[in-house]
Amino acid sequence: MTLAAPLSALADEYASWWIDFLGEHNHVGGEEATRWLLDRSRLAAGDRMLDCGAFVGASARMAARRLDVHAVAIDVEPDFLEAGRQLAGGEQVAWVAANTQRLPFVDGTFQSVWSLDSYISVREMSRVAAATATVCLCCETPDDSRGGLDSFFDEWREFGWEMAAHKSVTMDALQTWRHAEAELVARRSRYEARYGYRPYLGQLDLMSHLVAAYERGGMGHSLLVFARG
Ligand SMILES: C[S@@+](CC[C@H](N)C(=O)[O-])C[C@H]1O[C@@H](n2cnc3c(N)ncnc32)[C@H](O)[C@@H]1O
Repeated sequence: MTLAAPLSALADEYASWWIDFLGEHNHVGGEEATRWLLDRSRLAAGDRMLDCGAFVGASARMAARRLDVHAVAIDVEPDFLEAGRQLAGGEQVAWVAANTQRLPFVDGTFQSVWSLDSYISVREMSRVAAATATVCLCCETPDDSRGGLDSFFDEWREFGWEMAAHKSVTMDALQTWRHAEAELVARRSRYEARYGYRPYLGQLDLMSHLVAAYERGGMGHSLLVFARG
């Protein structure tokens, strides 16, 4: 048997290659950042938590396992959700293929709404959050003449949110992404050979842009908890 056959069989079977490639907690600060947010999320047993752009739902699974909440993970990529379902704690989470810009939930459903990604929909996340809820974010935040962080807070304030916890991770972000970028570049050819080209490799280009933006000082990265009610 040639080497190519078992490798292509593996690629067919192993849906979760992204986890090797990107890390299960696929955001700046990784698992430690997820824990920081969870500790401040005000979630209690029996609450409903929504993880937007969940990838393999590392945050949703952690919340479900640690706090016994009803966690829902959404992502536009059903393959990521299927991989997450098979990981530890996956059976405790509801997996829904959906777009963060148009969430398939009625108003006021969740006690905590998460997005550990920079593509956020303030309006939709606010709509599905309960009257007394939190929003947990790990995202890029402005750091320059566009009004800095205040402009970011103002946008959430318009939807009734006040900042409850904030941790700036600008320097960490730069170092984390630099490290990740170097790792990905080093491993890219191996992964392409093993799994074929996947559009998600475009993450590399995104990372290059982020590192450049951090270096210019035009953008930072934050962990944020907003609360209302
Ligand atoms: C940087 S990853 C973050 C994954 C996860 N939040 C975590 O921290 O591990 C971004 C994820 O958002 C998903 N995504 C991007 N745009 C989306 C959208 N409009 N609606 C839902 N998911 C989206 C991607 O498929 C990807 O899984």
